[in-house]
Amino acid sequence: MNYNNPNLIFTTVPSGKTGWNSPSNIAIVKYWGKKGIQIPSNPSLSFTLNKSMTETTVEFIPTSNNSNNLEFYFDGIKNTKFAEKTSTFFNRIIDIFPFINQLDFKIFSKNTFPHSTGIASSASGMSALALILCDIENQFFNTFKTKEEFYKKASFVARLGSGSACRSIYGNASLWGHFDGINNSSDFYASELPFEINPIFKNYRDTIIILDSSEKKVSSTAGHNLMNNNPFGQSRISQAKNNFKDLINVLKSGDLDYFVRIAENEALTLHAMMMTSKPSFILMKPNTISVIERIWEYRKETNIPVCFTLDAGPNIHLLYPHENRNNVGELIESLSSFTTEQPIMDYMGDGPEKINL
Ligand code: DP6
Repeated sequence: MNYNNPNLIFTTVPSGKTGWNSPSNIAIVKYWGKKGIQIPSNPSLSFTLNKSMTETTVEFIPTSNNSNNLEFYFDGIKNTKFAEKTSTFFNRIIDIFPFINQLDFKIFSKNTFPHSTGIASSASGMSALALILCDIENQFFNTFKTKEEFYKKASFVARLGSGSACRSIYGNASLWGHFDGINNSSDFYASELPFEINPIFKNYRDTIIILDSSEKKVSSTAGHNLMNNNPFGQSRISQAKNNFKDLINVLKSGDLDYFVRIAENEALTLHAMMMTSKPSFILMKPNTISVIERIWEYRKETNIPVCFTLDAGPNIHLLYPHENRNNVGELIESLSSFTTEQPIMDYMGDGPEKINL
């Protein structure tokens, strides 16, 4: 499948401004391992966050020299690293949006979450850019017949920027990766769940406990590549498929005990994969383990179905139902002895929004 379209060339090159807010997401079944051009080794499923957003505005004008020039401002400050990353992304998708070469871009971006916290921002950042490019196409070429077509293409394009970004296009929960029995599931783009999610998951909470805010030790891309020679790689793929299937059932039934088991099993397996790769990495910190033990103790004491998940880093995502938010407040309070950073109190959100400029 591809969206290459040589007709997306301006006859009169316009100037304009377009902006989108796009959220981060937290995977419950993790995408870890990929092949070809951003094709995931296994299906994944994530909750879309509400507060952890990237706000991006792009100003474009006709280019003066037949190849696009791009300036990137992050938090108002020129950022050459982000400019290079965006140029690499734009080059990768030039056949999808050939009009990119007719424009010069000024990109203004900021995160609503502290960017020094080690929270992945590629999902929110890349999905915002993908939405902006589809929006420019929509404004000037009028190619999308339906909203669904617009979001599907945005998700396809976001995937090419960063795999997990394709899931941020949809609100609440979103899945990515072909899975037999789920209509329209695809390796090329994410989609909404094809059923009503159990109401217990409405506004499901994700409180992010920042234990270490330094830069990631291993980039996700390097981490994915390490899966190619991991001796447990094949079993991991089968495990992810089973967890994915079970999670689909749990999201329908609302069986939180089973949700807890899947979420923690996925988080710990992701880290086990890093520990068993060559070279090996330990991405948790001593406090990650201490916090996990505290969560387990608290769950045993109270029977509240609070659990954790992890990204490819040491910070804890505390997951729990909205209705338990007051009680879990005590647990969060007790975790403050492990960190000086404020927790990020997030929850499941509705997905990206266009910025009115
Ligand atoms: C552990 O989407 O950041 O967060 O496609 O190389 O950009 P690239 O990887 P990325 O990987 C995310 C990995 C993860 C799990 C997940 O979000 O599913």
